Amino acid sequence: MTKTAKAAKPHFFCSACGNEQSRWFGRCPSCGAWNTATEAPAAAAKTGGAPKSSRARWAPAGAEGRAAGPRPLADVEIANARRASTGLAELDRVLGGGVVAGSIILVGGDPGIGKSTLMLQLAAALASTNTPVLYVSGEESEEQVRLRAERLGEIPAALYLLCETDLEAVLEAASRLKPAALIADSIQTLSRSDLEGGPGTVTQVRECGLALLHYAKGSGAAVFLVGHVTKDGAVAGPRVLEHMVDAVLYLEGERYQHYRVLRAAKNRFGATHELGVFEMTNHGLAEVANPSEAFLSAPGGAAREPGAAVVASIEGSRPLLVEVQALVSTSFYATPQRVTSGYDPRRLAVLLAVLERRVGLRLGRHDVFVTVTGGLTLDEPGTDLGVALAAASSFASRPLRERTVAVGEVSLSGELRRVARIESRVREAARLGFARAGVPAVQAEEAKVPGIEVVPLATLRDAIDALLGPKVARPATGKPEPQAAER
Ligand code: TYD
Ligand code: MG
Repeated sequence: MTKTAKAAKPHFFCSACGNEQSRWFGRCPSCGAWNTATEAPAAAAKTGGAPKSSRARWAPAGAEGRAAGPRPLADVEIANARRASTGLAELDRVLGGGVVAGSIILVGGDPGIGKSTLMLQLAAALASTNTPVLYVSGEESEEQVRLRAERLGEIPAALYLLCETDLEAVLEAASRLKPAALIADSIQTLSRSDLEGGPGTVTQVRECGLALLHYAKGSGAAVFLVGHVTKDGAVAGPRVLEHMVDAVLYLEGERYQHYRVLRAAKNRFGATHELGVFEMTNHGLAEVANPSEAFLSAPGGAAREPGAAVVASIEGSRPLLVEVQALVSTSFYATPQRVTSGYDPRRLAVLLAVLERRVGLRLGRHDVFVTVTGGLTLDEPGTDLGVALAAASSFASRPLRERTVAVGEVSLSGELRRVARIESRVREAARLGFARAGVPAVQAEEAKVPGIEVVPLATLRDAIDALLGPKVARPATGKPEPQAAER
């Protein structure tokens, strides 16, 4: 990393993960991708805006005169780590308690998901305390940004807008304005004129990201980089920034549903996997104070169709109740389909194998579809039991008992394993009006919470016996349903 002082020598970086090497490589030693070596431009030292040496790059503001050298760690002041509230409690939570001065944060997400809206709301909130904030837009005109800002509420006087795609011009404007925060929307539209290739190329994204990183560390301003990510999560561009920024936030959700989930994939100043939940309204993103309520279709877990189960997951620091739906139907294919949305298909395959071998449900000739409601993604082991129960419930046409939530990790032997923070999950279920919680038997004592019945379960088979209700009639399989035939 620090070899940049010898700028005459070429060096290379991986365009998939950003890993740097002094030599060309066929296969990246860090991420294993082939043919991703890209020569890093040696011009960094020549440009006016970018600092000259790696030492100058990292020197904090006002530290020019101080001799560089080892210092007792205890003497390092941490005044710089002060945090400013963003005005949005859900965003503060994901950031680990507010914006840290001098930090650089990448905000990724699909086009149209609401990144610009979130950033403009953040900019307005920070500027409303009378500290200047610079919002740089390379994608929209001044009028467009102004129109959006009108929808979002009052426009503070300290909020400045610059529609610009030239990095040098952005840095120059920033050095004059000295904003407390700079937002670059998006990093893919910025470019350095002295480099080959237009905006959005991996080299441009990386170099502009680096320059803004130096700007953040040198000036103490918080810098937000907006990056567009494609649906499968593969981004040639912003991905290379992930390892150099302090935090990576992803704004996720189904574009045609109104909930948006902001997730920290990396955070040097807080916990990862912290989650903020928003709702897209006509006036921008509104915080959802009670996300569990939002993700449940029927409050308190009233009677449901077979195949629906409520799981209590832990997302970051808080419990979250989410509905999972499964549909098991006779397959018309040689290889039955397993299709999921918001759930890992490999994990589902494991759960189905356990249901087959340990419980005796013959799922081998059935298609299984699993959906997590609200556009959320579940990957926490405590949600295993709920997903397995949803599949078993659909298969047997036995709906889950009313107002029931299920928590537990399913082992390959079909036993239920203990999960983290059982008590806070059960407490959340009680708060939302659930009547009973199925929990791993080993944790029955821990899970005791007033106002909700705890059902201790040793195995997945026990769970099916205790939590599924009686069988309901369903349309005979094989025959097409009347409406379906008419359509
Ligand atoms: P935008 O922030 O432009 O997305 P991104 O920057 O990630 O590409 O948001 C786009 C969508 O949000 C657009 O379809 C309109 C919608 N929207 C609202 O529903 N309400 C609002 O108040 C605003 C500003 C946008
Ligand atoms: Mg945008």
